[in-house]
Amino acid sequence: MYKIVAKRELNPTVTMMDIYAPLVAAKAEAGQFIILRVDSDGERIPLTVAGYDRERGTVRIIFQIVGGTTMRLNAKNTGEYLSDFVGPLGCATRTENIKKVCIVGGGVGCAIALPVAQKFKRIGCEVHSIIGFRNKDLLILEDEFKECSDKLTVMTDDGSYGRRGVVTEPLKEAIERGENYDEVIAIGPLIMMKFVVATTKPYNVPTTVSMNPIMIDGTGMCGGCRLTVGGKTKFACVDGPDFNGFEVDFDEAMARSDAYAEFEKGEREKCCNLFRGIK
Ligand SMILES: Cc1cc2nc3c(=O)[nH]c(=O)nc-3n(C[C@H](O)[C@H](O)[C@H](O)COP(=O)(O)OP(=O)(O)OC[C@H]3O[C@@H](n4cnc5c(N)ncnc54)[C@H](O)[C@@H]3O)c2cc1C
Ligand code: FES
Repeated sequence: MYKIVAKRELNPTVTMMDIYAPLVAAKAEAGQFIILRVDSDGERIPLTVAGYDRERGTVRIIFQIVGGTTMRLNAKNTGEYLSDFVGPLGCATRTENIKKVCIVGGGVGCAIALPVAQKFKRIGCEVHSIIGFRNKDLLILEDEFKECSDKLTVMTDDGSYGRRGVVTEPLKEAIERGENYDEVIAIGPLIMMKFVVATTKPYNVPTTVSMNPIMIDGTGMCGGCRLTVGGKTKFACVDGPDFNGFEVDFDEAMARSDAYAEFEKGEREKCCNLFRGIK
């Protein structure tokens, strides 16, 4: 059992938790993920390692409440326990030969992008961050990004905070200004990452994307997380989650990500009814 040692609401749909899991904390690196089960009969869901404290033995997760399992997770409080917490899984984000990086985060993807930005800062890189949200109410982690970024641009779709527009606009401007990034790293909704790649590719700026397909075992055995990258089949859980954005077949990934939409809707409704019943 894994104890929840801290819990904080970042916005009405995004929650941060620190979990006591010393063996995971000892090895976790930015870019990796864990798989948890809230209860012993619950479904397994992957969440990115959003931070870790090796001394305290804790691992931070930041999750958006989107369906049944994340609702059940959010219903847990500090001092309560999770049934399983397995990791770290996947490959850490590659940092070799990168001196200047632009991190582009969208929505809850910023939770995944933050430890990556922090790691690049820690190893002495120049870090520019562009983070985007639908509106001001959904903004998360601005102070944390400020701390680890040499330049930070905050975008909102409706202009309610920061600059109005989408993340690809300041990215294109920066590239055209001659920022000469060694790497752009995009983490967010599939459609955002697809457009980041469409922005960087004409300028040939190497671009990494973090892919979050449906995962089941997380160890390369079930094939659930397969993607086509450079014309070859790859498993996001063991070959990724980071991939060369120029090679990812985004259209196929988007079609596969909708495969369980009807089933998930049912689970969400079941869970909402459950919580209504409790109240
Ligand atoms: C490597 C990886 C890292 C992730 N990191 C984060 C993170 O740090 N924060 C965060 O909020 N979310 C993250 N996700 C997505 C998260 O796993 C899903 O939001 C979660 O599984 C939703 O479960 P649910 O039952 O609450 O919602 P559901 O209603 O079951 O699903 C809602 C949506 O979540 C996605 N999803 C559902 N089940 C899975 C699954 N087993 N594997 C992958 N995606 C699924 C689908 O896109 C689905 O449409 C990550 C996914 C992957 C693959
Ligand atoms: S989750 Fe099963 S192969 Fe990746």
